[in-house]
Amino acid sequence: MSATAPSSSAELIYTIEPGGMLKGSLRVPGDKSISHRALLLGAIAEGETRISGFLAGEDCLATLAAIRALGVQVETVDAGRLKVQGRGLLGLQAPQAPLDLGNSGTAIRILTGLMAGQTFAATLTGDASLQKRPMQRVIEPLTAMGARIESREGGRAPLTVHGTRPLKPLRYILPVASGQVKSALLLAGLYAGGYSWLKEPGPSRDHTERMLSAFGHGCLKENGWIGIHGGGTLLATQVEVPADLSSAAFFLAAAAMTPGSRLTLENVGVNPTRDGIIQLLKRMGAEIRLENPRQLGAEPVADIEVEGTRLQAIDIGPEEVVLAIDDIPALLIAAAAARGTTRVRGAGELRVKESDRLQAMQEGLATLGVPVEATIDGIQVTGVERFQGGEIQSHGDHRIAMAFAVASVRAKAPLLIRDCRNVDTSFPGFAALAARVGLGIASREGGRA
Ligand code: S3P
Repeated sequence: MSATAPSSSAELIYTIEPGGMLKGSLRVPGDKSISHRALLLGAIAEGETRISGFLAGEDCLATLAAIRALGVQVETVDAGRLKVQGRGLLGLQAPQAPLDLGNSGTAIRILTGLMAGQTFAATLTGDASLQKRPMQRVIEPLTAMGARIESREGGRAPLTVHGTRPLKPLRYILPVASGQVKSALLLAGLYAGGYSWLKEPGPSRDHTERMLSAFGHGCLKENGWIGIHGGGTLLATQVEVPADLSSAAFFLAAAAMTPGSRLTLENVGVNPTRDGIIQLLKRMGAEIRLENPRQLGAEPVADIEVEGTRLQAIDIGPEEVVLAIDDIPALLIAAAAARGTTRVRGAGELRVKESDRLQAMQEGLATLGVPVEATIDGIQVTGVERFQGGEIQSHGDHRIAMAFAVASVRAKAPLLIRDCRNVDTSFPGFAALAARVGLGIASREGGRA
């Protein structure tokens, strides 16, 4: 590295010019949830799985490094196209070092489930944010299946998973609707003798169930229970990853709330267990149309057209929050520009994401001059005509950084957003792509090393 090259640990700062409109058409990077799952199922399938549209963001690259450390060969044709040589259900090898999952809650939780059914021990860890996040939600049911999992106090990573084979089949009601926990238990279920049954308090994203079917190992659905049988074979397949609705969400919200904007987001995944942001914005009066709806492998996709208008406040309940769990920061920006007071209830899970997102949004919106109040598991925001400028702390959370970046379209003065490096975990190239549709984002290295 040259003397002038930025150190990757230096702070990344966005400075953004106020105002403007979003125009044109955009293809955001591949879906993060689906990219993780394609690697993990490809790793334990028989044969070569070909993935296209893969998200080469840091989170999914951490999963890629992890499966390589478990003995899986992966050829990178280019950043978005991979060939995974599956080792079969019983073919993973003990890693030589701890698996570092960086910032990724999805990677650590789903891999903990997969490691539970192995014949070796593996240690899973990650960055400072990941080491603060709750892991008891996977430790408890996996322990009931017979795995032994060591953690730091309070069920925090690093986790050392001592796999057991076969695991005991599980019958379990998840205390929170969580795609990560459900997926961890479904993968562990592949290593149990017999059927495991899971029930969720509400529907969470179903990418794992859909992808298991595509790999020839479908789940059963009976009276709200999901069943998976242990053993058998996953057959390698081709996975085409759609663009990530949770990355599109920032542009969708910003265009929807800015009269004069007109934007098309291409080839976006619109799985009904994930499309809360579209439904909620529509309920706020947004002009959104799904064009060219089609099926991309196991997942529905569409081109999303959005036109800007003045939005109306709405009330959002817990069952809607889970369908838009990652998109609430973007939605709160839209609420901050809407007429009236938007109230979100049942959103306590946002406090244990990459940052405490209720607190981060409360702080940032207050800086923008938006009346906002947070409770233990909710938040209410009263819309204003224009936002103030100012300095926003993203708390190293990619989605907080991007939400406030797009808020600039309704600001009166420039915004400066701190600690944006982690945008690369889910949306490499965000600032450049945003600039292409009309946002004046400049990124620079800050002083912190
Ligand atoms: C994800 C599930 C969600 C979401 C995360 C990705 C997944 O987490 O917030 O970004 O891929 O299963 P929870 O399962 O914890 O709600």
